[in-house]
Order: sequence, then C-alpha cells, then structure tokens
Amino acid sequence: KRHLLSAGDLTRDDAELILSTAAEMRELADRPIKKLPALRGRTVVNLFFEDSTRTRISFEAAAKRLSADVINFAAKGSSLSKGESLKDTALTLEAMGADAVVVRHGASGAPHRLAHSGWVRSSVVNAGDGTHEHPTQALLDAFTLYRHLGGGPLGEFRSGSLEGRRVAIVGDVLHSRVARSNALLLRTLGAEVTLVAPPTLFPVGVETWPVETSYDLDGVLPKVDAVMMLRVQRERMSGGFFPTAREYSRRYGLDARRMATLQDHTIVMHPGPMVRGMEITADVADSARSVIVEQVTNGVAVRMAVLYLLLGGNESDG
Ligand code: CP
Repeated sequence: KRHLLSAGDLTRDDAELILSTAAEMRELADRPIKKLPALRGRTVVNLFFEDSTRTRISFEAAAKRLSADVINFAAKGSSLSKGESLKDTALTLEAMGADAVVVRHGASGAPHRLAHSGWVRSSVVNAGDGTHEHPTQALLDAFTLYRHLGGGPLGEFRSGSLEGRRVAIVGDVLHSRVARSNALLLRTLGAEVTLVAPPTLFPVGVETWPVETSYDLDGVLPKVDAVMMLRVQRERMSGGFFPTAREYSRRYGLDARRMATLQDHTIVMHPGPMVRGMEITADVADSARSVIVEQVTNGVAVRMAVLYLLLGGNESDG
C-alpha cells in the first residue's frame, strides 16, 4: 500500500505486519543508540493544520530514528494564514521532494484529497482528519493492547492474541476520530468493542459500526479487558445539548470508585490530551493500571513501522 488514510483500509495481515514491525522498532527505544539508517536520504514532511503534541512529536522522532530528513510545517506562521490553498501547499511540498507527507487537518477527508488529487507523488499518512479517522492512534492503541493483553511476556507480539478481548471506548464518540479508527481496527484484529457515551454524544449511523453501544458505564466496566477514555471535544461543539462538566464526570468519568470495579488485569488508556477531573481523575490517570504514558512511547515505534513500510526501507541497511 502507498498511503495510510483509514484504519478501515487495513486487512488483518496489513495491521499485523505493522504491529510486528513496531515490536522490532520498540526494542530500539530501550537501547542507548536508538537510530537505524533505513530511511537515510528520504524526506518526511509533517503537515499540521491543527494543533498536536503527541502525534507531531512522535512522527518527528520516528522519522529521525530511521535517519530520514524531517520538515515540520505548521499552519500557524505559514502562508496558509494568507489564504494559500491545500493544493498550493501540496505543490510546494512536491517541489521540495517530500517522500512522505504526514497530514493533520480539521476537515474530514483532507488526507484522502491530498492522496488522490495527483498534486503529490509522495505517500500520505493521515495523522487525524476532523472527526473522521486517526489510524496511527488506533495502531498504537492496538500495539499497547497486544503488549498487555496478548498472553505472552510484556512486549511480545503474538498474531491473533486480541481475539475475543473486550475493549470499552468511553466518552465523546460523536467527535472522536480515535473511536472510529479503533472500532474498525480492533474489530479487524478480533477484539470486541463497546462504545459508552451519553445519547447526545453518539454519531448518527453508529449502528453500522462493528461495535456494541451502551449508556451504562457502570454496567460495562466489570466486563472489559481495557477501558479507553476520550476527551470531550468542546471545541468541535456548536451549540446543542451538553451536560455540565460535573454531571458528565458523575455519569461518564473514570474515578477511583469506578476503577475498583475493573478486573485485576484491566488496563486504563487515553489517547490524550486528557482533561484531568473531567473524563478521568488524576489518581486514575497516574495509577498502576494506567498505560497512558506508555501509549506515547509505543506511538513512536508504530509510526517508525508505518514510515518504514510505506517508504520501503532497505533491509540491507539493517
Ligand atoms: N492523541 C493525539 O492525537 O494527541 P495530539 O493531538 O497531541 O497529537
């Protein structure tokens, strides 16, 4: 495949190839020298039209650990603020000889437009588009689930070991590209996903997703192997009903009382950014069950694997 646009485009073999490659890349993180020469001479452009901390930094770290050249392009401070179009920006990147463009955009479908427009010859990686998809987040979440729930020693990747594992994704599903990508990818990998949200925060058409749905967080928590909390994306809400922060936390927040109802092995995840005190309390976020910081570390390995596989890293480079 030339692009990574949607988690739904990945077959089980595709996803497992990325995750097993990521497992090899992950070992590098524990070594004193973290670099491989695989993408020497290649150029990766980070094209971010929306804010990001984890995704942008981890793609930069991933590309650098593979010895690629990295150009960071943020919309703020660029000619985009003077009205330059996506097309002209793409043509500028093409003129610079980008081999891969990692794009985050507020408009759902923008990475698809870039990939299929003919404006660029490079590989396009979706780093989050509007409320649509965030496939590398889903891959790093799946990778984290394999490490903890895969049945082998921590860190081992075993094909098929998420089969039948149960994952709850809780919160603002309506605005969440992370929820959609995870629902698609985890189903492909054989896991069973339950989305939990207030009625107003489920998207239209959720019944066509390969998931169960529930309004009852307390009923779901004791049954799952992992619980993934989502931030309420107030910046994407234009009016409409929304419960108060206090009411939301009371009904859908993960606090110590609720955490005590989880099974002993169940892990707590969050893609970030977190709003401590809203969807998750600080004591839960910092608890022994929380793998939130590890998700970020795993994100570098997964993004290394994606860049390596898309750009055809040379095996003989080691
Ligand atoms: N999880 C995630 O996409 O975080 P950032 O918005 O900081 O990249």
